[in-house]
Amino acid sequence: MNFEETLREKTKQIEAVLESFLPKEEGFQKTVIEAMNYSILAGGKRLRPMLLSETYRMFGGTDRLADSFMAAVEMIHNYSLVHDDLPAMDNDEYRRGRKTTHVVYGEGMAVLAGDGLLNYAFETACRAFEEARSLEEYKRVAAALTILGKKAGIYGMIGGQCADIEAEKKQDTVTPDMLLFIHENKTAALIECAMMCGAVLAGADERQIADVEKCAYNIGIAFQIQDDILDVTGSQEILGKPVGSDAKNNKITFVTMHGLDQSQEMVRSLSREAIALLSSFPSRNLFLEKLAEQLIYREK
Ligand code: IPE
Ligand code: IPE
Ligand code: MG
Ligand code: MG
Ligand code: MG
Repeated sequence: MNFEETLREKTKQIEAVLESFLPKEEGFQKTVIEAMNYSILAGGKRLRPMLLSETYRMFGGTDRLADSFMAAVEMIHNYSLVHDDLPAMDNDEYRRGRKTTHVVYGEGMAVLAGDGLLNYAFETACRAFEEARSLEEYKRVAAALTILGKKAGIYGMIGGQCADIEAEKKQDTVTPDMLLFIHENKTAALIECAMMCGAVLAGADERQIADVEKCAYNIGIAFQIQDDILDVTGSQEILGKPVGSDAKNNKITFVTMHGLDQSQEMVRSLSREAIALLSSFPSRNLFLEKLAEQLIYREK
């Protein structure tokens, strides 16, 4: 199998894991669950669960201990998208080629679907305790939960989204440091979360976990810079979401601050640093290295 075929195969496996953890659409709360599943089942690259499971494998993980965390990190990612698209935030009507959750279910239900996904992510991640077979594995699950909480929260994704919406109103005073803070937190934090949870669950040591965090940081910043680039150079048909969303919302992005050429160069150099770090681990995961390289050229 070539890389593309392997990627498709692995994505299919991740979809199956995800589906196995989705809540049933029943009871008086049925509508909010439908809205949650509408968002989750819309497809997407599934990058975060993939990074989690590939890092888990790189450090020798072979069983199902990481499965519920794969689902959890994708649920948190989806909640962040549902809220990010709301009229009160980026006000976008398309996501993954279909209408956004608030357009289909209304704003109130979209707020609740986001809340539901965030909470259900932790309910789901806790299921890993059922898979743990030793005290050591219990401890790994607890450590991964701590990472999940922190990286998704005010010292992670929520913190970045806070600075992101405030920056819209003070465009002239946004510094390169502030912009980097936004990208580090709104996007890189969840990517760090995914790879670090994979490493922790597989039993990586402290130094290895710190290296994984650094590597994921580079992948994460490069990923958001590429997202900024595609908002200018991409097409809605391929992206599945509107282009020009950043300009519409007066966002300062890497493209507006550093220009297209320099932004592209940053995506390349950050990604190459990440790949160099990956290839320095004693047990290499060549698929993961190739994935990090392919992300440089992604069009969606
Ligand atoms: C979009 O993430 C939001 C960002 C952090 C840039 P993805 O580009 O991973 O979106 P999906 O999950 O593939 O739709
Ligand atoms: C969003 O960044 C990051 C999130 C935490 C959702 P963007 O606002 O640029 O993401 P898209 O372009 O809407 O996917
Ligand atoms: Mg946004
Ligand atoms: Mg957005
Ligand atoms: Mg964007």
